[in-house]
Amino acid sequence: MWKPSERLMDTIRHYASFPATGVSLRQMVQFGDRSSTGMRLPIALQMPGPAVIDYHLGTLFRASQFLSEELPIRLAHRVQDLGELPDGLSEMPSIKKVQDWYAQSFEEIITLPRPSLTQEVRARLLRSSRTNGGASKILSETTQNPSVREGQYRSSPSSAAYTNGNGKAAASGRRYFFPSDDHGDWPPELRDYNERFAKTLQTIKRRHDSVVTTVAQGILEWKRNCQRMQIDSTVQSFLDRFYMSRIGIRMLIGQHIALTEQSHVQHPNYVGIICTKTNVRDVALEAIENARFVCEDYYGLFDAPKVQLICKEDLNFMYVPGHLSHMLFETIKNSLRAVVEIHGADKENFPVTKVIVAEGKEDITIKISDEGGGIPRSAIPLVWTYMYTTVEQTPNLDPDFDKSDFKAPMAGFGYGLPISRLYARYFGGDLKLISMEGYGTDVYLHLNRLSSSSEPLQ
Ligand SMILES: Nc1ncnc2c1ncn2[C@@H]1O[C@H](COP(=O)(O)OP(=O)(O)OP(=O)(O)O)[C@@H](O)[C@H]1O
Ligand SMILES: [Mg+2]
Repeated sequence: MWKPSERLMDTIRHYASFPATGVSLRQMVQFGDRSSTGMRLPIALQMPGPAVIDYHLGTLFRASQFLSEELPIRLAHRVQDLGELPDGLSEMPSIKKVQDWYAQSFEEIITLPRPSLTQEVRARLLRSSRTNGGASKILSETTQNPSVREGQYRSSPSSAAYTNGNGKAAASGRRYFFPSDDHGDWPPELRDYNERFAKTLQTIKRRHDSVVTTVAQGILEWKRNCQRMQIDSTVQSFLDRFYMSRIGIRMLIGQHIALTEQSHVQHPNYVGIICTKTNVRDVALEAIENARFVCEDYYGLFDAPKVQLICKEDLNFMYVPGHLSHMLFETIKNSLRAVVEIHGADKENFPVTKVIVAEGKEDITIKISDEGGGIPRSAIPLVWTYMYTTVEQTPNLDPDFDKSDFKAPMAGFGYGLPISRLYARYFGGDLKLISMEGYGTDVYLHLNRLSSSSEPLQ
């Protein structure tokens, strides 16, 4: 089994002394290569200037360079964080295992050989493409994430001195999106490096697939060890930062792999894994269908409680469809479970759960309204804590059970709501819950459509 050397741990400590640099959805989507795809960016993102700009290779290389520094910083914070958990939690075998994954991935990135480039190529890489420089500067600006208190998801107490990683990083010239002058040919080393880098990222992404289940396993081991029922606020905020950071790292990695593979070229509405025209109705219909299917399966129902969707057909916005479907699936699944449990699985006609989508200038808000009996007021704060569930027997955690994501069949892990809220907040949205005990629950999913807000910094 792989173990980090002392020297590697020293390097990790060094990297962890730097703050992470937040990237916004807008910055991520600027890689849309309009020349070869004919893609139209949303009005707000259309840049003046000639339409034919092929800034792919050099720009992608610059992004690879950015990530080859940024990802190790983020990974290093996680290694440290995992090593500083209270009350022996750090010593749990599953936590150690995850810590080693982070250290190993860190090592793989920092030891990846860089290409040797001529002075001329370096200079050209640094030169911003003239047509884009001005516009991209405006677009690259990130704003404070409205759903997050400053420093809320910050790594570790040791980084408390930093106020804003973005400002600091900008001063040192580190930037995710930098349109370089891509007219003409680049040396093959550039493409080679991009490909090697993307391959490394792929290995890393796969290694970390089962992080959520394995950390959850670690918490269970620890709870059993010290006979705790609930996790305290230190562990809760650790998990919040940890999973938030994971969302960010996976977003950057997933985006970069997709951009390198150019898979978005085949689909005009996609830039990497971001869909510039995510159709809310389509995503919601699919989530409803999946949640109902799981519900029928779990309770042995012929027909799961109905869900009514109220949404304009042509409501599109820029988002990551995978994130949206995750949040909707989890919240609808919760509603269906509550409805079945309160009315009994043998009831003929369940009350209908309503999913209402509203389009505002700032937000798209989705309300999931059920008549599942609600939640007692005293339990409301608990629903946001990890591992809080009203399922009697938490199903066995099998790390191989669903490698790609943490989707439990019906319920029972107490991760559905807190993780969904992190996804919402990641791009400046939020998830809120209001309950009427004795009647039902309303969940409000706010999605920020301006999307200039920075990732919550870690
Ligand atoms: N719409 C709802 N109506 C009533 N109770 C709810 C509703 N949504 C959530 N809850 C309560 O909050 C708890 C936590 O929900 P959460 O989705 O985080 O975890 P879970 O559903 O128990 O497990 P899983 O991780 O598999 O989703 C649930 O166990 C349930 O008691
Ligand atoms: Mg749930």
